Amino acid sequence: MRVLVLGGTTEARVLYGLLEQAGARLDATVSLAGATRAPVLPRLAVRIGGFGGVDGLRDWLVAHRTDAVIDATHPFAVRMSANAAQACTQAGVALLRVERPGWTPVAGDRWIRVADMEAAARALGSTPRRVLLTVGRKDLLPFHHAGAHDWLLRSVDRPDASLLPPGARVLQARGPFDVAAEDALLRDERIDVIVTKNSGGIATYAKLVAARARGVPVIMVDRPPVAAALTVVDAVGAMAWLERLYAHVSSTRREV
Ligand SMILES: NC(=O)c1ccc[n+]([C@@H]2O[C@H](COP(=O)([O-])OP(=O)(O)OC[C@H]3O[C@@H](n4cnc5c(N)ncnc54)[C@H](OP(=O)(O)O)[C@@H]3O)[C@@H](O)[C@H]2O)c1
Repeated sequence: MRVLVLGGTTEARVLYGLLEQAGARLDATVSLAGATRAPVLPRLAVRIGGFGGVDGLRDWLVAHRTDAVIDATHPFAVRMSANAAQACTQAGVALLRVERPGWTPVAGDRWIRVADMEAAARALGSTPRRVLLTVGRKDLLPFHHAGAHDWLLRSVDRPDASLLPPGARVLQARGPFDVAAEDALLRDERIDVIVTKNSGGIATYAKLVAARARGVPVIMVDRPPVAAALTVVDAVGAMAWLERLYAHVSSTRREV
């Protein structure tokens, strides 16, 4: 059975491992956007780069006689998810989305929830603050005119200088992060406020634990709405779905 995994997340990486163990009966190709300069690559077939929108993805699915797509992209990668939903419908391919649950505040958290990056930039206010920005490289534009803050941007790859808010320093790092290191970062950098997306998962949760302990407020950007699809929360759920589909597809093919 031919499977396309749209990757780029921790859940996708766990799924690659499960697919590697499953062997040849699940013939999987992993697709990455090409956004990360040195991605962690699986021991599976890999293709890198966009498909060229809905039409490009549909054509790819048909040309590669794909049976199933696992959309394991990030909760904020909504364009890719929308394209996957449309292309799978058009090509008659089964689609499953893997989406980790979002974070929810607990006692002691000082979250300011906002709908998008523009609102996050506004929520910082005009009084200069020491800001830890962990929103990735793509979404920095709203912070360019957000006030004379002292910016520390953490991202896997260094963004182009033109994308950075004025005077921003860059801390290049790839999760997972632990609480002790996050606590030291908040202390040493005298961080007044964190700006983050509600990515969910454990790899980047430690900063929220450290912020809670230090009483540091967090501007939390809510998830954007995503295209409707059958959804599981993790790679194990995706693998169980693939196994059921495999049993169904192989019994249908035997009958034919
Ligand atoms: N957004 C985040 O905060 C975030 C965080 C961590 C990891 N990621 C990962 O980074 C990648 C890009 O995220 P994004 O927010 O830029 O996505 P996006 O805005 O939803 O997608 C933009 C375009 O990038 C291409 N693309 C995205 N994911 C792809 C994939 N897995 N394989 C092939 N092409 C892909 C598609 O191009 P075409 O239309 O040409 O097909 C898509 O239309 C995703 O794989 C995502 O899982 C994103």
